Amino acid sequence: MRILSGIQPSGVLHIGNYFGMMRPAIALQAEGEAFYFIADYHALTSLHDPNALRENSRRIALDFLACGLDPERAALFCQSDVPQVTELAWILSTVTPMGLLERCHSYKDKTARGMSASAGLFTYPVLMAADILIYDSDVVPVGKDQKQHIEVTRDIALKVNETFGPIFKLPEPRIQSSSETVPGLDGQKMSKSYGNTIDIFGEEKETRKRIMSIVTDSTPLEAPKDPNGSAIFPLYSLFATEAESAEMRAAFEKGGTGYGEFKKQLFGKLWDYFAPMRKRRAEIVAHPDFVEDVLKRGAERANSVADEIMRRVRSATGISK
Ligand code: ADP
Ligand code: TRP
Repeated sequence: MRILSGIQPSGVLHIGNYFGMMRPAIALQAEGEAFYFIADYHALTSLHDPNALRENSRRIALDFLACGLDPERAALFCQSDVPQVTELAWILSTVTPMGLLERCHSYKDKTARGMSASAGLFTYPVLMAADILIYDSDVVPVGKDQKQHIEVTRDIALKVNETFGPIFKLPEPRIQSSSETVPGLDGQKMSKSYGNTIDIFGEEKETRKRIMSIVTDSTPLEAPKDPNGSAIFPLYSLFATEAESAEMRAAFEKGGTGYGEFKKQLFGKLWDYFAPMRKRRAEIVAHPDFVEDVLKRGAERANSVADEIMRRVRSATGISK
């Protein structure tokens, strides 16, 4: 089984990314041949600062490794180290119906939030389909918001197979139910672009401050509280055991505990949860060549698979002698 996923280096990784994509991807690395990449071509749809793009890409590789990605099992690489993927995206775009892209929520959401409506942002799902199909991927672990893009990928693969013969496998999304959508400080989806994140490797003081700023209502301390009325309890449940979650739920419903106290408990759990990863991160930082070396080896593996599949595509489409 081949497993593939990508993440955009458009900012710093937060716990929504961790539970939605990174943790499931890391868990799957033992079950097959995994390919995980840093989607820098994709990030260009929102980030036009070359230094920031380079810096974020490196940092994501480091953070992913610190969180448990094992480079002996999974290939970790930069999307742009396999530039053939842009050639495949072009070929796919020639059979992709406009209507398929027009239906994509992500484009509509992003432009509604003020992102400029570039052609690249619109055709983003075609590049994502190329990312997936160029490695004959079977399974794609992603957060729920990416599910539609995997469906688009399947539709594009079917269209190519219909047009040129059986070239591509149809990939399956793998969505973790526990990660449904991780809420941010304001209760909306946690997202880099909403400024409501808790970063995986944030400084201690900043992380505490962010948790203390989770938006709550004005229910008085003595009164019973709705555990789902703010992000505190859903976030705590991600880190706590079932028994600990049940205990916090009961304390919310009973009354007599203020939101500040619950926030402190959340901070404690979150900080302890990421402690081993912070330690591993410090070890990696002490070996400056390690990340570069992992990315280089990852790119070599990815290129050898991509080259083989591109030979198949070129031959089937007539882009070869
Ligand atoms: P962001 O919204 O912060 O820009 P991305 O779109 O780069 O995040 O998402 C990278 C991966 O993390 C995707 O697989 C996405 O589904 C997952 N993800 C992002 N935010 C969340 C969230 N709040 N809850 C669950 N998964 C998420
Ligand atoms: N679109 C994904 C996101 O924003 C990132 C991504 C690009 C991706 N190509 C991919 C994810 C291929 C899975 C497979 O999160």
